[in-house]
Amino acid sequence: MLTLNNKLITAGALLLISIITGIWLSHIGRPLNTMIFTIHKLIALAGAIFLVIALYNPFKTASDGPVIMILTALAALFLLTLFVTGGVLSSEKSLPGFVLLLHKISPAVMILALSGVIYLLIQKSSAF
Ligand code: HEM
Repeated sequence: MLTLNNKLITAGALLLISIITGIWLSHIGRPLNTMIFTIHKLIALAGAIFLVIALYNPFKTASDGPVIMILTALAALFLLTLFVTGGVLSSEKSLPGFVLLLHKISPAVMILALSGVIYLLIQKSSAF
């Protein structure tokens, strides 16, 4: 049975694999490789689900304070941005460069915000 820490580690590992498969996908270029693309988006989806499951309960019990709220909102916003820009990038049409740029920088912003959230949750509770 998974413990909370294992869920968080699983989410982290899946997000890391999403980044690696994303870089691989970009490296191969267009047309997108269907197999790597499918792995990339499914693993990203699984990572997002694990992340929500892992953080839901500790967040419910220890999420007081504006900083944690702002960081959580930021992480959620950039996770959403990843899925929206990812969906747009899936099209074979030529797209403005900022879409890929946004897809490239969002993981970094999301991970920074998430690190803050996890740090604050550990500080505030014994939920982990
Ligand atoms: C946790 C979620 C995700 C992360 C961390 C992530 C990360 C990345 C990264 C790092 C790249 C390489 C960018 C580069 O260096 O050029 C990439 C490329 C890509 N990702 Fe994602 N991604 C995520 C979700 C998604 C989703 C949900 C989709 C599709 C629905 C998607 C579609 C793509 C596509 C199509 C590319 C290739 C873009 C191109 O080179 O034209 N991504 N992703």
